[in-house]
Amino acid sequence: MATRRRTLLKVIVLGDSGVGKTSLMNQYPNLPIAVFLGWGKVLILLWIWKFSQQYKATIGADFVTKELQIDDKLVTLQIWDTAGQERFQSLGVAFYRGADCCVLVYDVNVLKSFDTLDNWHDEFLKQANPADPRKFPFILLGNKIDIDGGNSRVVSEKKARDWCASRGNIPYFETSAKEDYNIDPAFLCIAKAALSND
Ligand code: GTP
Ligand code: MG
Repeated sequence: MATRRRTLLKVIVLGDSGVGKTSLMNQYPNLPIAVFLGWGKVLILLWIWKFSQQYKATIGADFVTKELQIDDKLVTLQIWDTAGQERFQSLGVAFYRGADCCVLVYDVNVLKSFDTLDNWHDEFLKQANPADPRKFPFILLGNKIDIDGGNSRVVSEKKARDWCASRGNIPYFETSAKEDYNIDPAFLCIAKAALSND
């Protein structure tokens, strides 16, 4: 008989300040709601954008939870959004311990945010100290692909994919928190990756 298992998975989101970590978190659990109204003639799409143009730096860390059904398992993702700004990073080693997946985020329009991925990756492994660092699941998100229709991007998709390949085939998604693009598939992948580490 199939059994339903409930699993709580801890996900840590890291990346430079301003790349859009908080915006991605806010967008994810608040997907657009479509409502069908009237005599089958009127379809009203209610788009709820939890997207804020105003930048408020994250201080310390905060989490959101999201439930997903994956095969016979009810998975609760506890997604920790952290501060990119160094002066707001007050997280100890204990915070990273027990993580099931690490999501790295960079801004495709800001080279420095891509160049620092090595630091975020290595620092995470140092702090989290997983049993097998080579097998620990990471996901990379290249965010803000909407800006200027992609004309202002400085990191190509190929460059990002090459980095992922060199780091043990990390799955890669290009996203826009502003336009709610590709966030759902990215989080499904995150959940599956975290589950594989369970
Ligand atoms: P810290 O908390 O300092 O680490 O920054 P963060 O990574 O959480 O960045 P945050 O989500 O606060 O976003 C920074 C700014 O970028 C805000 O003004 C957002 O509105 C904007 N932003 C985030 N994602 C996108 C996106 O996909 N497209 C565009 N155009 N703007 C975005
Ligand atoms: Mg933030």
